[in-house]
Amino acid sequence: MKKALIIYGSTTGNTEDMAGMVKAEFEQADFEVEVKEVTQAAVADLTADHDLLLLGCPAYGDDEIELQEDFAGFYEKLNGIQLNGKPFAVFAPGDSTYEHFCGSVDMLEDKMNDLGGKMVNDGLKIDGDPTDAEGEIETWVESTAASVG
Ligand SMILES: Cc1cc2nc3c(=O)[nH]c(=O)nc-3n(C[C@H](O)[C@H](O)[C@H](O)COP(=O)(O)O)c2cc1C
Repeated sequence: MKKALIIYGSTTGNTEDMAGMVKAEFEQADFEVEVKEVTQAAVADLTADHDLLLLGCPAYGDDEIELQEDFAGFYEKLNGIQLNGKPFAVFAPGDSTYEHFCGSVDMLEDKMNDLGGKMVNDGLKIDGDPTDAEGEIETWVESTAASVG
């Protein structure tokens, strides 16, 4: 069975909800899924024995892209690690009235690519409440799961 690790940060609960939905869909796709809230995660988790890393982090900036505050602390610790082709994908809920809609997804994708990760799917950006976007989440998980070799 393939193993996935979800690491998420959430201030008002939307990304936490989304992480739960992503987990349930990956389980439908026969993955064993571990979920860690980002303050419980260690940098070493990124290079542990998982077939897929999933990062969930909303944006909290105005003019600039800022990561959710707990995730920002984790991000600061990533410099210098080697992901050696680790498959990953990023997801977030956001609000398209902001200049950088789900800018956190783009920022994390750039970082993970720089560290040598292998992005297996374009990030999933949900506008508004993720619990209203079950179909979109299901479709994204199916295509992400199919891209993990
Ligand atoms: C001060 C502030 C700044 C935000 N900035 C952005 C942004 O730049 N881009 C975006 O898509 N959403 C932005 N949002 C919306 C949040 O990312 C969105 O509500 C998200 O669902 C919050 O996730 P959480 O409930 O897991 O904390 C912002 C929200 C607040 C309160």
